Amino acid sequence: MQRLVIQGGQKLSGTIKINGAKNSVVALLPAAILSDEETVIYNVPKITDVDVLKQIIELLNGKLVVEEDAIKIDSKNIQNTTIPEELSNKLRASYYFMGALLSKFKHVEIYFPGGCNFGARQIDYHLKGFEALGATITMEGSKFIIDAKELKGAEIALDFPSVGATINLMLASVKAEGQTTIYNAAKEPEIVNVASFLSNMGANIRGAGTSTIKITGVKKLGRAMVDVIPDRIEAGTYLIAGALLGENLTISNIIPEHLSSILGKLREMNVKYTQKVNEITISKCENLKATDIKTQVYPGYPTDLAQPICVLLAKANGTSHVIETIYEKRMGHVKYLQQMGANIEIEDNIETITGPCNFVGTNVEASDLRAGATLFLAALAAEGETSITNIQFILRGYENLVNKLSNVGANIHIEEIE
Ligand code: EPU
Repeated sequence: MQRLVIQGGQKLSGTIKINGAKNSVVALLPAAILSDEETVIYNVPKITDVDVLKQIIELLNGKLVVEEDAIKIDSKNIQNTTIPEELSNKLRASYYFMGALLSKFKHVEIYFPGGCNFGARQIDYHLKGFEALGATITMEGSKFIIDAKELKGAEIALDFPSVGATINLMLASVKAEGQTTIYNAAKEPEIVNVASFLSNMGANIRGAGTSTIKITGVKKLGRAMVDVIPDRIEAGTYLIAGALLGENLTISNIIPEHLSSILGKLREMNVKYTQKVNEITISKCENLKATDIKTQVYPGYPTDLAQPICVLLAKANGTSHVIETIYEKRMGHVKYLQQMGANIEIEDNIETITGPCNFVGTNVEASDLRAGATLFLAALAAEGETSITNIQFILRGYENLVNKLSNVGANIHIEEIE
């Protein structure tokens, strides 16, 4: 076991380079097995979710070569194997092998995906979409068996613009006969990234990034390359760190357009920053103003930054509200922020935060990935030492966290504990 130890209150200055997006690469790797040849994914982050997906591809007989931040995937001899429960439930994105294997072999055996616990995280939209394409789904204990004699293009209207379902249905339909239309599709940049990769392989996809995606099936998918887009959630997390403690802290390798909703909230809070084509320089704001935030699908304010921004809101003058609309239960950070000194109350899915507070270091526990990010932000701003356990959650999404933060002045390290 490990813990993250942070001595708070240090100024942050210098540059933090953002890595490739977790939520893109976790779809691009499963997408790679759709090719009958070799594909290369560049700008791959070194996070634990990627390690699990590499294990699954190797289990399926894919050949991987890792060179610096690139992964070469040879999918010529991919075989269809049951993905065992201990791999399926290590991360959410294992569900992308449902769409990819269904597309390639018309048969998949896999277990329910894992991922952070935010209440029920159903996959019914994915399954209904596979059925619309002609698949039948049976359960054997907790194993899903998804089978199709043939896959035929279909009209699919999602009940909600789910990121996972949109990507999974693109994967499942790229080789189906005829045209598939996904209505009410999610519009997140990660979807465009996956659609570009599939198009580079030879797929025919129109409208990714809008709410209607049209896919015309092709027979074969071939060689392709793709760059993982910068991680907008990692970038947003470090922008919040900059607003708390920055002295000209530069967040580089970003696409500012993907950050428009978080930047809008920072401006409302009085935070000042300067923006260039692919970087933003931000400094501590001494006069933070309270504001209200409601999580929405892209381009609205992302649920993945709803927990981290609570730290900044807790330092702001006045009362702020955060309304979580995407998940039924994503409040694992609240009890620990309270222990660290925040004045924060929850009713249903609404947090009411009254500031400004002074954070004080203590022993806390990461309950999920972004709750963990919230705690390291509070710890950076706190007086004294904070120790965070369960850091395996944090390492799922933040590459090289300790180096990135210590290089800009934070006092942070990881310790082994019993
Ligand atoms: N939903 C259903 N049925 C479905 C699919 C989704 O009811 O079949 C519900 C979910 O329970 C949730 C909502 O719809 O309440 C949104 O779920 P969505 O499918 O959009 O989320 P996801 O694909 O499971 C991805 C990211 C999450 C991020 C969400 C929303 C990955 C691997 N995960 O999850 O990332 O919060 O989109 O943007 O891409 C994170 O990075 O911390 C994280 C949790």
